[in-house]
Amino acid sequence: MDNLALNVKQVISLKSGVTRLTLTDFRNYAFLRVNPHLGPIVITGENGSGKTNILEALSFLTPGRGLRSAKLSDIKRFTPAVIDNGYTPINAGWAVSATISKNGEDFEIGTAVEKSIREKEEEPRSFDRRIVKINEQKGCSQSELGQYISAIWLTPQMDRLFRGGSQPRRSFLDRLVYAFDNEHAKRTSNFEHLYKQWYQLIKSTSGRADKNWLESLEEGMSATGVAIAAARREQIARLNRFIESTPDDVFPDVQLELDGTIEQMLDTLPAIEVEDYYRHKLASERNNILYNDSVDGVNRSDFKVYYKKKRMPAELCSTGEQKSLLVSIILAQTKCQILYQGFAPILLLDEVAAHLDDSKREALLAKIKELDLQAFITSTNSELFSAFNNYAQFWEVKNNTVICK
Ligand SMILES: Nc1ncnc2c1ncn2[C@@H]1O[C@H](COP(=O)(O)OP(=O)(O)OP(=O)(O)O)[C@@H](O)[C@H]1O
Ligand SMILES: [Mg+2]
Repeated sequence: MDNLALNVKQVISLKSGVTRLTLTDFRNYAFLRVNPHLGPIVITGENGSGKTNILEALSFLTPGRGLRSAKLSDIKRFTPAVIDNGYTPINAGWAVSATISKNGEDFEIGTAVEKSIREKEEEPRSFDRRIVKINEQKGCSQSELGQYISAIWLTPQMDRLFRGGSQPRRSFLDRLVYAFDNEHAKRTSNFEHLYKQWYQLIKSTSGRADKNWLESLEEGMSATGVAIAAARREQIARLNRFIESTPDDVFPDVQLELDGTIEQMLDTLPAIEVEDYYRHKLASERNNILYNDSVDGVNRSDFKVYYKKKRMPAELCSTGEQKSLLVSIILAQTKCQILYQGFAPILLLDEVAAHLDDSKREALLAKIKELDLQAFITSTNSELFSAFNNYAQFWEVKNNTVICK
């Protein structure tokens, strides 16, 4: 065991994670209750049996739209409709609830979707809203969840993370920030909301919107945007420092960078000046919104990853190398969270064995064991996880239920 693992063990003597998970009308599950242990859980089953859906449900115990970035209305359980031969939701809602054990203390968390009405609009419209309950207290904000649980996920869609557009990379980075700064989730969703309002206001009035209204939105966007940029920079610096001081023996060392105008300005200017610049820039680009679709800012920043030893940008690395780079990032993040936050995140590893060679897969399993993590790992082949025999729980998903082996 390396020094860091020893440090981690000293910092955290008790484990954290989910000890009960209940799903109601969630995707293919009408009702499911499982009691995971605070260690690795290997979830196997045929294609389409419901493995990823369990991981997605767990991801809803943290802020945001879950590991599929799904629309809330797509999650409620659909059943074949008798009447119109289509697929019709059996009811409006779905729910996920869980008991969380955090360093020996238990907490109850629940999240569900609820229909709400937007009454301020000319024609009141109903919309789906995610609500959160913590320890029987209703109406909690999603960002409060971060005090009790945090999750890091790797999904097959992320195999293309370094090659496509910047939005998924930004979301990935922002989730790494949430764990250290619970307010970050609120900030990013506030910024998105303000930006949408601003954009629609300019478009709908063909540039003749009320000046005071535009200015107040621009003020909110520049203040929130600079806070987002600062938090991203801090997280990248933290991870780079950590990786530098504790190089991994198997997974490649990464160099993380941010490519964003606002983030880069913070290198040399105080936040207040960057905020002024951002506010003026937004105001000066109002007209551009009429002809283009977006304005440069924190909504366009990119998260750049390099394979350090090879000095190779991640997008030019092989598929297996890209997967290993992602594993490096999530392992560094996990260790940082344990050391600095005092509790471990849960890992949601969907088909993680794909693209990893045998030695990398075995190394990843060894690291999960060494760090004593709760990790939910899906696969269609349980034999790949024989190193976890007598250590992990093995679940098989079949007929919309889970059989613990
Ligand atoms: N809203 C929904 N209502 C009912 N079923 C759904 C809903 N959304 C998805 N499903 C179904 O849930 C099933 C399980 O999906 P899931 O992605 O969890 O499978 P999986 O076991 O991970 O499969 P694979 O091995 O192919 O990744 C799929 O057949 C899918 O069509
Ligand atoms: Mg799947």
